[in-house]
Amino acid sequence: QASLPQGYSIRPLGAQDYDRGHLQVLGVLTDVGHHTHQDWLNQFYYMKKRNDTYFSLVIVDHASDRVVAVGTLLVERKFVHCNGKVGHIEDIAVSGDQQGKKLGLRMIEALQYIGAQNGCYKVILDCALKNVPFYEKCGFTQKEMQMAWYV
Ligand code: ACO
Repeated sequence: QASLPQGYSIRPLGAQDYDRGHLQVLGVLTDVGHHTHQDWLNQFYYMKKRNDTYFSLVIVDHASDRVVAVGTLLVERKFVHCNGKVGHIEDIAVSGDQQGKKLGLRMIEALQYIGAQNGCYKVILDCALKNVPFYEKCGFTQKEMQMAWYV
């Protein structure tokens, strides 16, 4: 895996990252809602307890001590493929002023590595058509069709 630009590091999401702007970066992707700090911590600790299932990473800019990119791998256990595991990449976002520096690419590479290390036989994701070229650069190929049902 190639390295990040100088002055950035990638690591697991931490309990202090609420204050480093974790939700603001996710806001690049979609409406994040109106969390209290405690709401955020409740979700953080729920996922931390299940740390063989949820792998959330952040890229931090050292100069500002802010989160600038986020991403999650969810590991699904299955009966098929002899109790196989499938990795699902979710909620990838890079803050607007930091896009185009390969931070998204490095985030995906790190999540692919975690998936492989944790025994996933494939890693899949859903994305908008406009992001297909980005994911192709990350080694993904188009398969089938996404369907959705909203409650
Ligand atoms: N169209 C074509 N090429 C692209 C695009 C695009 N939309 N985005 C990136 N690329 C290319 C880059 O030019 C680069 O190519 P190169 O290696 O030839 O120079 C390569 O993909 C890697 O690009 P990065 O610099 O790593 O991309 P960036 O850090 O800007 O992250 C991302 C890309 C995550 C899509 C970012 O633009 C973003 O946060 N967008 C808004 C939120 C979003 O749409 N997230 C993805 C949701 S899908 C999901 O979560 C599963």
